[in-house]
Amino acid sequence: MTQHAAEVFQGPLERRAFAKIPAEVTAIGLGCWQIGGSWGDVDPQDAENVLGSAADAGITFFDTADVYGDGRSETLVGTYRQQALEQGLEVFVATKIGRRANPFEAGQYTEENLRAWVERSRMNLQMETLDLVQLHCPPPEVYGDDAVFAVLDELVEEGKVRAYGVSVETCEEALRAIERPGVASVQIILNAFRLKPLDRVLPAAREAGVGIIARVPLASGLLTGKITRETEFAADDHRAFNRDGSAFDVGETFSGVDFETGLEAVSTLQAAVPEGWTLPEAALAWILAQEGVTAVIPGARNAAQVARNAAVGRKGPLPSGFGEAVERVYNTTLRQQIHDRW
Ligand SMILES: NC(=O)c1ccc[n+]([C@@H]2O[C@H](COP(=O)([O-])OP(=O)(O)OC[C@H]3O[C@@H](n4cnc5c(N)ncnc54)[C@H](OP(=O)(O)O)[C@@H]3O)[C@@H](O)[C@H]2O)c1
Repeated sequence: MTQHAAEVFQGPLERRAFAKIPAEVTAIGLGCWQIGGSWGDVDPQDAENVLGSAADAGITFFDTADVYGDGRSETLVGTYRQQALEQGLEVFVATKIGRRANPFEAGQYTEENLRAWVERSRMNLQMETLDLVQLHCPPPEVYGDDAVFAVLDELVEEGKVRAYGVSVETCEEALRAIERPGVASVQIILNAFRLKPLDRVLPAAREAGVGIIARVPLASGLLTGKITRETEFAADDHRAFNRDGSAFDVGETFSGVDFETGLEAVSTLQAAVPEGWTLPEAALAWILAQEGVTAVIPGARNAAQVARNAAVGRKGPLPSGFGEAVERVYNTTLRQQIHDRW
């Protein structure tokens, strides 16, 4: 990695604060699911280049999970973090726990399991204190389980975890998480196909000082405009095997929008992209413009994608017009499929 190459030549990336942690991260982070698995074959060299490119671009915020490649993503991020620290670069890592257990089997969120998952992430990431541990889309009963949150509080007191949050599927779950006083962040799907978090979740998070991490910002790549009916996905890419939600919540694949409707929505949005912008840039900048968003975490399979996404963090505000198109497309094409479900 070239030390802060992009910062030196192009100015720093925008940074935002997590009110409760306290920590400042780049508003454009990096989603590290791709360097773990479930996106077809991602070459190990590409995975390393993705992290190196993030460093070059000045990105300081990384989102991973213990299950991405069964620890592969965490291990790569941990190794990268050590190298970055040696070069004096700061890195903030958010990981997730809870999906090593079968989420459909009750009673998995025991103290013993929570502690074991945290220990494994500390080892994979080579971190004495994990920056941010998120419960990874836990089953609904976990939100009301005081014992789970008491264990997380203890882990903070013991110095194993600096802060904790919840990655959620639905807006109702987000609101329940925000009510928990120890919750520092909520990770939720918020993008041009998912507008419901704007109604109640963002205002509640702002009020409570809870950070919002916007995931799946490009609707699994659909919002780049590069995917067509002819695009072929590898059999081990979730965009091939989870379109029907048979492996995990269908909302994580193309944001839960059916493929044909997604393509139609994208083509309308393409026409509203401001001059001098690309669709993925506009899609990311639109999320950053929503008050209460702390960071957006596009995933990337290669260095070029990271660099292009990071550049949005120094591009300045999105010109008017695109936001109006997003609302129009949502109301006419997507709302019926999406709004009541998540
Ligand atoms: N339950 C959870 O907590 C959960 C669930 C999902 C995701 N996440 C987190 O959120 C992150 C982001 O979501 P995501 O990765 O699922 O979806 P995403 O960020 O919406 O889409 C990522 C995909 O978009 C394409 N892409 C990204 N930048 C591009 C660019 N500049 N130009 C062209 N194509 C580009 C790539 O597609 P190709 O691969 O086709 O090149 C990439 O794999 C994940 O990495 C993960 O950290 C968390």
